[in-house]
Amino acid sequence: MKILVTGGLGFIGSHTVVELQNEGFEVVIIDNLSNSSEEVLKGIVAITGKTPLYEKLDLREKALVQNFFKKHNDIDGVIHFAASKAVGESVENPLLYYENNINTLVYILQELQQKTETNFIFSSSCTVYGQAEKMPITENAPIQPAISPYGNTKQIGEEIITEVCKVSNINSILLRYFNPIGAHPTAEIGELPIGVPQNLIPYITQTGIGLRQELSVYGDDYPTPDGTCIRDYIHVVDLAKAHVIALQRLLNKKNLDKVETFNLGTGTGSSVLEVITAFEKVSEQKLPYKIVPRREGDVISAYANTDKANAVLGWKAQSTLEEALASAWKWEQKIRG
Ligand code: WQD
Repeated sequence: MKILVTGGLGFIGSHTVVELQNEGFEVVIIDNLSNSSEEVLKGIVAITGKTPLYEKLDLREKALVQNFFKKHNDIDGVIHFAASKAVGESVENPLLYYENNINTLVYILQELQQKTETNFIFSSSCTVYGQAEKMPITENAPIQPAISPYGNTKQIGEEIITEVCKVSNINSILLRYFNPIGAHPTAEIGELPIGVPQNLIPYITQTGIGLRQELSVYGDDYPTPDGTCIRDYIHVVDLAKAHVIALQRLLNKKNLDKVETFNLGTGTGSSVLEVITAFEKVSEQKLPYKIVPRREGDVISAYANTDKANAVLGWKAQSTLEEALASAWKWEQKIRG
């Protein structure tokens, strides 16, 4: 079985390539290296002993996408990670996000639509729920108006896929990630944020290693037990494994709907202060931090109800927050060492 992984050298993509290869899938990676590096290939090979096919390709180039699918006309499924993901940047430059996240999706679906049958997995986000009314969040929770162009591209992406699947031979699974963190336990691959990290865990590990002076905690006056925001932090390896299981479900076709949606989280919410405490434990050091005003656009709380993924996919996150943080810390120490 030959699977195309777009953005396969990125954070979640690379971990998924590892799990796919471990399960015996033949992988073709497309990546434009806009937020990744060819060095990641070495990590994938070091872990799996297998070299995936790889093409540096920019999915915004429609003619190149068409050529790619002509050349690789034996692809059995696509896992589409390639996208831009910085919320703040999307507010500054919305068209970049619509081009990177929507045009590319359309071009891929145009090629897949011509096939007699194929499978598609989409990286969506819990951001589609906005501030959900009820915790934990089920897949049936209402979609809220997006607060950023990035979030909007995920909502529109889901809608486009749903509409196209109705009139084509494409079957899809939409995976709504909560907060992916951590690194492969071998520390051969992990997250490589460019510049100052916007996300909590890379900021924490960079502060732990001394690259940043102190972490700013965005607000401690939220209506939560300790006043800081609550998120569902999921180990990237657990997340990667869910993609393989979702793909197997698409390939098996048993009781499959044309489009299915799953939350991918642990089911447990952790506050920013709880994450700091857990990091201090695994890294055996104090983390310098200060409380600063709230960050615009942050929801108070978001954690997943994972019953559907448990029941239908037979998947459950295995790693604890501490294990995920320990892997992120091991990776940070390796890349700065
Ligand atoms: C987590 C918590 C911050 C940094 C974003 C996207 C989402 C998804 C994942 C990705 C929040 C607090 C953070 C810092 C802090 N998309 N924080 N100091 O905002 O839940 O989700 O990334 O591709 O769509 O919105 O994740 O890691 O930025 O923040 O206090 O320096 O940590 O306020 O409560 P978020 P995050």
